[in-house]
Amino acid sequence: MRKTLFPRVRPRRLRLNETIRDLVSETSINKSKLIQPLFVSGTLKKKEEIITMPGQYLYSQDDLLSEIDELTNLGINTIALFPNIDSDLKDQSGTEALKEDNLICKTVRKIKDRFPKLVVITDVALDPYTSSGHDGVILNGKVDNDHTLEALIKMSVNLASSGADILAPSDMMDGRIGKIRDSLEVNNFKDTILLSYAAKYASNFYGPFRDAVGSKQIDGISKKTYQMDSKNLKEAHKETLLDISEGADIIMVKPAMPYLDVINDLHQEINVPIFAYQVSGEYSMLKMGIDKKIFVHNVIPETLISLFRAGSSSVITYFARWTAENYDNIS
Ligand code: PBG
Repeated sequence: MRKTLFPRVRPRRLRLNETIRDLVSETSINKSKLIQPLFVSGTLKKKEEIITMPGQYLYSQDDLLSEIDELTNLGINTIALFPNIDSDLKDQSGTEALKEDNLICKTVRKIKDRFPKLVVITDVALDPYTSSGHDGVILNGKVDNDHTLEALIKMSVNLASSGADILAPSDMMDGRIGKIRDSLEVNNFKDTILLSYAAKYASNFYGPFRDAVGSKQIDGISKKTYQMDSKNLKEAHKETLLDISEGADIIMVKPAMPYLDVINDLHQEINVPIFAYQVSGEYSMLKMGIDKKIFVHNVIPETLISLFRAGSSSVITYFARWTAENYDNIS
């Protein structure tokens, strides 16, 4: 019979106090690895709280700049920016997305002018601009892949020329990374980083985000015809390897916590950084639980740590600001 290792081996020795625990910890939260998503409005004069995302705001142009000022003072140096445009500007094919002076391009220029070192990530997808709320152009009752690609290419070049540092195609059309990469190269945007939402699942956790950008779908077409099925893991490898071969620098897994296995599996397999997106529904669920005192706010770093432990290099989270403000006090 094997001899028991106890009492020579006592794992609790390394849990004796906080200093010891910190010395042996395998993972930590670093604010340079947190990215704050921000919503900008084309119509508001003052910021407004998003009802389904308590503590998150739809910013006016001016309020957005003050928020960024505060974020950078707190040590958050990367943002992901999303537009909420006037509904009069939306149409079937999302033509507003292609304009060089639309809300998002103007806002990026303003931000980079005032905060040249801030890293700005912009989504590349049509959903804030289409009357259908879909990420693509609808043709014959379907979200048409190849027509959508043309729009995404134009949009990407506009965003890069406005000064966006990282473009994040979040639409899940086939072939878009290669097409976007080629047109960036031809237009001399050789250093624009592509963060591909490679493993983006069709999720029920995006609801509050759709309230924030005003992209609730009204037709019968499902986003499941382009976003991934939550039942699949191997498919995440397929999507990721394709996007890397087409020129993606970083890949994203989204949502985050319900897909920890996907993050971890890809982490073992691929050699580009993985970002996780803790999405709006994950935020609201945690925030409302904290506000109702169902659990304490230390659940926030616990969720973030789980994402880093699984293999994320950085995390997009609506808790970035909160973490930067409070992290030194969390144990
Ligand atoms: C748009 C997009 C979505 C999110 C990021 N980019 C929503 C969607 O695909 O419907 C969701 C982010 C969140 O829920 O926080 N393509």
